Amino acid sequence: MCGIIGYIGSGDAQRVIISGLKRMEYRGYDSSGIALLTDKGLEVRKKAGKLANLEAELESSPVGASTHGIGHTRWATHGGPTDMNAHPHLGSTGRVALVHNGIIENYASLRAELADAGVVFASQTDSEIVAHLVETKILAGSTLLQAMRTTVGRLQGAFTLVAIDTDEPGTVVAARRSSPLVVGVGKGENFLASDVASFIEYTREAIELGQDQIVEMTADSITVTNFDGTQAEVRPYHIDWDLSAAEKGGYDWFMRKEIFEQPRAVADTLRGRINDNRELILDEIRIDAATLRSIDKIIIVACGTAYHAGLIGKYAIEHWTRIPVEVEIASEFRYRDPIISPTTLVVTISQSGETADTLMAIRHAREQHAKVISICNTNGSTIPRESDAVIYTHAGPEIGVASTKGFTTQLIACYLLGLYLAQVRGTKFGDEVLALIEELEALPAKMDEVLDDLSVTLSLAKEMTEERSFLFLGRHVGYPVALEGALKLKEISYLHAEGFPAGELKHGPIALVDQDLPIFIVVPPQGRDQLHDKVLSNIEEVRARGARTIVLAEKGDHEAEQYASTLISLPVVPTLFQPVLAILPLQAFSCELATLRGCDVDQPRNLAKSVTVE
Ligand code: G6P
Repeated sequence: MCGIIGYIGSGDAQRVIISGLKRMEYRGYDSSGIALLTDKGLEVRKKAGKLANLEAELESSPVGASTHGIGHTRWATHGGPTDMNAHPHLGSTGRVALVHNGIIENYASLRAELADAGVVFASQTDSEIVAHLVETKILAGSTLLQAMRTTVGRLQGAFTLVAIDTDEPGTVVAARRSSPLVVGVGKGENFLASDVASFIEYTREAIELGQDQIVEMTADSITVTNFDGTQAEVRPYHIDWDLSAAEKGGYDWFMRKEIFEQPRAVADTLRGRINDNRELILDEIRIDAATLRSIDKIIIVACGTAYHAGLIGKYAIEHWTRIPVEVEIASEFRYRDPIISPTTLVVTISQSGETADTLMAIRHAREQHAKVISICNTNGSTIPRESDAVIYTHAGPEIGVASTKGFTTQLIACYLLGLYLAQVRGTKFGDEVLALIEELEALPAKMDEVLDDLSVTLSLAKEMTEERSFLFLGRHVGYPVALEGALKLKEISYLHAEGFPAGELKHGPIALVDQDLPIFIVVPPQGRDQLHDKVLSNIEEVRARGARTIVLAEKGDHEAEQYASTLISLPVVPTLFQPVLAILPLQAFSCELATLRGCDVDQPRNLAKSVTVE
């Protein structure tokens, strides 16, 4: 949610910043802007709409050569997406330019205070007040660093700020509280950004910033201090993926590329989790076995797609460990005063590692002395830093706003956690755990099988471009798959889609069913005979009312075939693992339908990939 970047070095700052913003456009794309220090002083260009509008503006109104500047791509919170509300914002005399990601919660009182002092505002944003506060301090004699330090002491809320001052042409200063910020360490040039993808083209060496830290950066130096001025401990790290991971590689959309990357992402997430004795190892779980044995309740907390992964995780973890598992939407969690104790394990799931709702849930859980394990895809992000332990999903960067490989790798991490707990607590024998691990290891090849033949799914999308409403049904782990299938369609096609537990349909939603309504139904493997037969009865119910049924069932399920207007076959896997396969055609269907409807698949309206406000 908002991408910000700062650059200083000897390269072409405009090129570096615009290419960086392009790679961060998934974070917000309702307006963008750039401020560069050139021979003419500070030159600012900002434009409502996608980054292409800013590029067009820079072409029609070019700025001078520059090696020093900042940029921003926005997802609006305070003030609509207009040219004036776009960042960077300037102080009253135009000395300071500043970009911001997050929300300044006490902005109204600060704005009133500045207005009383005679400041005239150019925008409706909370961010502009920070530019004025920093500049006021500078005009009173502070350096940019000192002014930033004093200013952050006055701010409440979540923020990452990056600023430049025309009178300190060799310096960029940034501050971070609860919103993401990483430093890219180059040779004779340095970078600051919300996401490493923005500078991966130039360097793979990065520094993770902690909470409440300030960075002062020149072309040759990086100094990190805490808000109180003390020296901060810095954690350098190497980014282990390269530029190709952040590019489309011949696909029309990142989402489509990421759908096809899933077998590899799942294999990478499983890699290295089995030791030579064929035992499951989760090195990152820095919680001792005795503590894990004492756990008497698990609460999984997440948002969006990650929440759906958590719903599936519940079935697996409860089944293997017999520990009760609750699954909660992060934004609801702390407000219901959840019952948490030191023997509660809170498991958070987040692709980005920055989702504010999830982060706040972690803080609440830890205040109540619960242990927190996070499942996360982004190395060094805030959520794993604030958790007791982390299981990284090794999906590589996910750029399409609608999550795909994030979801399937989160499922794998949930399975690994469930099996690990079962191993530590002795609720499964070693050979049982191993047999399930082997089933997991067989998944990438089966995923390839599904993705290699999407012909039925893709032609279905072609037939359905005029449909306005869809239902998705499932039972057991098929139910969260139905929710996720519906969410994908809503997110990128803007069509009405709902996921229901198949058995619940008759208690209300069946009233929606009429002639030709397309209904996707996930049929459980035949081995789960009762469940399987119940779902077939539910299909009967909707067919009797004329619905068009798109049935996802395992190969060889001839019974299910008879209930299908269209059949999508899935390789045979144990019931608990079926979601990893069943979601693939649903993702591909949404991607294809949205493409055919002319929607922007990677940047759907109103959404942002990383939501850093509550
Ligand atoms: C946003 C995205 C969703 C995502 C959710 C959770 O709403 O649009 O696609 O599932 O955040 O994100 P996280 O990074 O925490 O997994």
